[in-house]
Amino acid sequence: MSRLSEERVATAKEIIGRFPRRKSALIPLLHLAQEQDGYVAQDAMVHIAELLDLAPAEVYGTASFYEMFKFHPVGKYCINICTNISCQLVGAWNLLHHAEERLGIKSGGTTQDGLFTIEDVECIAACTEAPALQVNYRYRYKVTPESFDALINDLESGKLTGEVPPHGTLASVRQTTTAAWSNRGVEEQAQVDAR
Ligand code: FES
Repeated sequence: MSRLSEERVATAKEIIGRFPRRKSALIPLLHLAQEQDGYVAQDAMVHIAELLDLAPAEVYGTASFYEMFKFHPVGKYCINICTNISCQLVGAWNLLHHAEERLGIKSGGTTQDGLFTIEDVECIAACTEAPALQVNYRYRYKVTPESFDALINDLESGKLTGEVPPHGTLASVRQTTTAAWSNRGVEEQAQVDAR
């Protein structure tokens, strides 16, 4: 939908300055775009390509490799329910169907209020704690229909606001580098290039 805002362009330039090569900033800039719109919009990818001297196809080619980048609007809370073998053996399909019924959407869908998206996903590396899910990449283990309902209630009531930030806020969590590090990568690369 939208290009990066002025404020995010300023952050993007700061991030780019941390790397010897501009294109190394691609993933952090994709996170910035996702933070802005909740997903990586097409115009944002074109804008990122301009900032990094890349072709838009290169930006999309990298972004589409990663499951955590979305290319369409998703809910404030993305719930990834693992339906791979370990989870499947202990009730993952039941859990997924329960989640679909509880939220009134099918896997891949988003609730009308924009709060929840459900996805059934491959192994999320929590097989010993199956069945497992992630909500905005925060794990929940040995999930039952009852504990799923409790999770939804807690998210709806705001009880988990501190623990589970809205989808796409990784960029602001990670941008803690001090001014002393700004442009460090560029300066160091200039020294290497001068040799
Ligand atoms: S199979 Fe579900 S976490 Fe590995």
